[in-house]
Order: sequence, then structure tokens, then C-alpha cells
Amino acid sequence: RSILLINGPNLNLLGTREPEIYGSTTLQDVLDLAQKQAAELGVKLQTFQSNWEGAIVDRIQEARTQGVDAIVINPAAFTHTSVAIRDALLGVDIPFVELHVSNVHTREPWRHHSYFQDKAVAVICGMGTYGYTAALEFAARHMKLKKK
Ligand code: DQA
Repeated sequence: RSILLINGPNLNLLGTREPEIYGSTTLQDVLDLAQKQAAELGVKLQTFQSNWEGAIVDRIQEARTQGVDAIVINPAAFTHTSVAIRDALLGVDIPFVELHVSNVHTREPWRHHSYFQDKAVAVICGMGTYGYTAALEFAARHMKLKKK
């Protein structure tokens, strides 16, 4: 039972970037909490952040060879631009949850479109960093993960 959490560009700045939109919790806080939660849920959690589209594509491809069962991804700005990351997720055929800290639907119109939403098992947005907790809980408890 193995889950991969991917964070896209500028999420390394979480907690300091536009705190009125994204809050003051840092990415490290999010990852520490997620690891604790994964241990409680009895799942293996791998995490990856990159500002580079191709690096995210490579990491998704690697997930298949590692037997990752589910992906939780905040594609950040690539949500609205990346056919390549969409194709990578479809190519490895690993079910995924799309996650956004902010409610993208209350923001600029161009943030309303996502290259992922029609293929995601679930989409979470507007819960702040609690969305990571919700996504992990959902992935671990409700997505079909292999037994061992
Ligand atoms: C985001 C929303 C995106 O529109 C934005 O480009 C981000 C973060 C979010 O978590 O709310 O970088 O994915």
C-alpha cells in the first residue's frame, strides 16, 4: 500500500507565498503531518516537489516501476497548462486525487480550467492545507490499494 504525494511549482514557498490565499503552513509542516498520518493509516508515503514540468513527468513514470497504488497531486500552475503531466498520469494508469489549497473557482477565470479534473478520482480545493489531510485519508481508506 503505497501513495505518492506530488507538489508542483512554487509550493516549496508554501507558508510564505501569498499567505492571504495559501495560509501560513509551510510545505515542510504539511509533509511532516502527512508522514505521521500515513504511519497511522499503515500506508507508505513518498513525497516529491518540483518546479520543473519534466521532473514531475519523470517522477510519475518512476511511480509505475515502484508499484505506487495512488497519487495525490497538487499540480499548482501546471494544473492550467500541462498536457504532459496529464498524459503521464494517464500513461502510468495510477488513480489520482487532484488537490488545491485555494478554491480555484473563486479566483481568476483561467484557474477554473484544469487539465486533470476529468480524469481525477476526486478533486479537493478550498480547504487550505487541510486538503492534504483529507486527500491522504481518502486515498488510504477509499481508493483501491494493493493489500501488501
Ligand atoms: C494551486 C492553485 C493554482 O491555480 C496555483 O497556480 C498554485 C496553487 C493551489 O494549491 O491552490 O500554484 O494549485
